[in-house]
Amino acid sequence: MPNQNPGFSTLAVHAGAAPDPTTGARATPIYQTTSFVFENADHAAALFGLQQFGNIYTRIMNPTQAVLEERVAALEGGAAALAVASGHAAQLLTFHAIMQPGDNFVAARKLYGGSINQFGHAFKNFDWQVRWADPADVSTFEAEIDGRTRAIFIESLANPGGTFVDIAAIAEVAHRHGLPLIVDNTMASPYLVRPLEHGADIVIHSLTKFLGGHGNSMGGILVDGGTFDWSASGNYPMLSQPRPEYAGVVLHQAFGNIAFAIAARVLGLRDLGPAISPFNAFMILTGIETLPLRMQRHCENALAVATWLKDHPKVGWVGYAGLEDSNNHALQQRYSPKGAGAVFTFGLKGGYEAGKTLVESLQLFSHLANIGDTRSLVIHPASTTHRQLTEDQQVSAGAGPDVVRLSVGIEDAADIIADLEQALSKV
Ligand SMILES: Cc1ncc(COP(=O)(O)O)c(C=O)c1O
Repeated sequence: MPNQNPGFSTLAVHAGAAPDPTTGARATPIYQTTSFVFENADHAAALFGLQQFGNIYTRIMNPTQAVLEERVAALEGGAAALAVASGHAAQLLTFHAIMQPGDNFVAARKLYGGSINQFGHAFKNFDWQVRWADPADVSTFEAEIDGRTRAIFIESLANPGGTFVDIAAIAEVAHRHGLPLIVDNTMASPYLVRPLEHGADIVIHSLTKFLGGHGNSMGGILVDGGTFDWSASGNYPMLSQPRPEYAGVVLHQAFGNIAFAIAARVLGLRDLGPAISPFNAFMILTGIETLPLRMQRHCENALAVATWLKDHPKVGWVGYAGLEDSNNHALQQRYSPKGAGAVFTFGLKGGYEAGKTLVESLQLFSHLANIGDTRSLVIHPASTTHRQLTEDQQVSAGAGPDVVRLSVGIEDAADIIADLEQALSKV
């Protein structure tokens, strides 16, 4: 590119991609193949021994997936990335590279519900423990750290409430204890927030949401910030000790600032297996080309909807950080001045029954369990995703009986508001 420092929108369209050298195809081809022919036996041996980078088998690496990795690494300002089958797979491979049985990590209590399940239940089988902290109170993270803590995990913009977190302050705590800060940047996307610039060490995404952006493909990615010293403490043996499966290679020595991304690929993805399909990688790459345009519209529409809802007589409260009277507005202005995202919750004065009536009456909004689609989406957590919890548990998870979550799409704001207006009239 002629400009040494291309802008975000240019990177969203071009980073990692080039015309196909064989056919001249301008869009990145879908390399729909399981395996790649070796040049000769020595080439095959060098690839398997990690002496040379190259394609072997699509579970480990694929050229369509590689363009997606380079593009997201560029958008986040990271050193390298690894694309996988889902956001949950990205979280699994992230922790697999840095945790041993008996280790723990400290996570913000306000997270996507699926992450709370994964950390609190599924990870127990690996003997990895999660400890919960309050994202609004940095001291609660420090209080949970002990000699077996290996990382801190937060969402930059927390799902479902749409609240911004003080990334720099939590990064400072993590680094004071020699720990990496892992940030799930799914809800904000790198268009709004770039966590590595605020001290994060690893960024992960569910590509299924705003990056893919069209509600049609599952994917996840982890981005290696390239700055964390994996050897200093001796606490990350996967990275700092010889690996028996690769003839004693020490990944941090051999791969320097991309050692974490390499470990996630050659130890995690290779052996646990959650590869992204080349087709999904292509769909998500295509989605990313319009990320800046979509995010602008998502944020404009969400602000218009939140402003309208705030004055509606049947609405008790609106939790959108973009509203000037929000107690999260100062953090939003600091971390995400271009907008407050598109996902937020609000409360209905009529409680549980009003929430059910609203979701059943909306017509333009789709009632489903996803966010970050071009289409406007709605869910009433207390009657769906959080229905198994007691009312107290629902309230502390930000999913009380009155709470409705919106993911505002990129349709015309007037049509989105008209749909809410007709549905609220039935409540
Ligand atoms: C913030 C956040 N992180 C992670 C995930 C998990 O991603 P996936 O569904 O792609 O596994 C989700 C899914 O909704 C999410 O909202």
